[in-house]
Amino acid sequence: MFPVVRPRRLRYSSVLREMVRETSLSVGSFVYPLFVTFGTNTRRPIQSMPGCFAESVDVIAESARDIYALGIPAVILFGVPHHKDEQASGAYDPDGVVQLAVQEIKHAVPELFVITDVCLCEYTSHGHCGVLENGQILNDPTLELLARAAVSHVRAGADMVAPSDMMDGRVMAIRTALDSEGCASIPIMSYAVKYSSAFYGPFREAAESTPTFGDRKSHQMDPANRREALKEAAIDINEGADILMVKPALSYLDIISDVKHAFNVPVAAYNVSGEYAMVHAGARLGWIDYEKVMMEILLSIKRAGADIILTYFAKDAAKILND
Ligand code: PBG
Repeated sequence: MFPVVRPRRLRYSSVLREMVRETSLSVGSFVYPLFVTFGTNTRRPIQSMPGCFAESVDVIAESARDIYALGIPAVILFGVPHHKDEQASGAYDPDGVVQLAVQEIKHAVPELFVITDVCLCEYTSHGHCGVLENGQILNDPTLELLARAAVSHVRAGADMVAPSDMMDGRVMAIRTALDSEGCASIPIMSYAVKYSSAFYGPFREAAESTPTFGDRKSHQMDPANRREALKEAAIDINEGADILMVKPALSYLDIISDVKHAFNVPVAAYNVSGEYAMVHAGARLGWIDYEKVMMEILLSIKRAGADIILTYFAKDAAKILND
């Protein structure tokens, strides 16, 4: 009888489908991004990211409690400061929004793992990721400021730092600074493979970090490049990165898979703001099913090889997975 081999035999029963399922999502691998802003009693909705808010330090612990109650083990913090200047001083101010928020969250929910994003773009008056001279980002002087920012986050109580700036040598600069401050046990999750992507649009609105001129092509990667991802990953491992991140996630599943296979370190993937916004927009128009598409996207990121998923969907997905 033809056909002898019938893959459908494994698909008729939901029990058997579950037994042979190759990938599963778990809430334990989610990281939820939080935006911390100045002021008090502020919870400003982010237009293009439904369900996301920029929150002041005094109310952020409440959000942290809700996140932890859903079983989400970690958050990553982004600052939206009041004061911006050429030297990004808010990035390493001990009383900066992120530093204060870390203290609040660790005090209120000590079990919640707090990661901080280390970059200068949210803190510079020009919105670029480093110190400028004649319109160019100076690499090495920027490293010093990044290291100061990372140290200030860890002093405030951060459990892990995540440099997202894409300057050359930042992992080593941060590792060296943390070690000399007695923080050798604090891990670094580096945005090792970060592309220059239009999918960051909604985030830049949220973080008020759109560059006032130019773009980020002089440091973030060209979306056309695949082999170069392995070069970036290898460099960061050599400099002491503990976890490598690929960003964005959805249009870069091939890169997640490549990095996962090439290196023996955990891989994180950042399911970015534009990926989140598109699903909401499509669902609002009634053209796609929000929950099903969200779960399929997250599953695909996991299937590609991500151990950790940073996602604005974390809370909605956790509610489904906990059911
Ligand atoms: C830089 C940073 C960005 C994102 C995370 N960290 C923006 C950028 O590089 O322009 C984007 C995250 C997202 O789009 O969800 N601090």
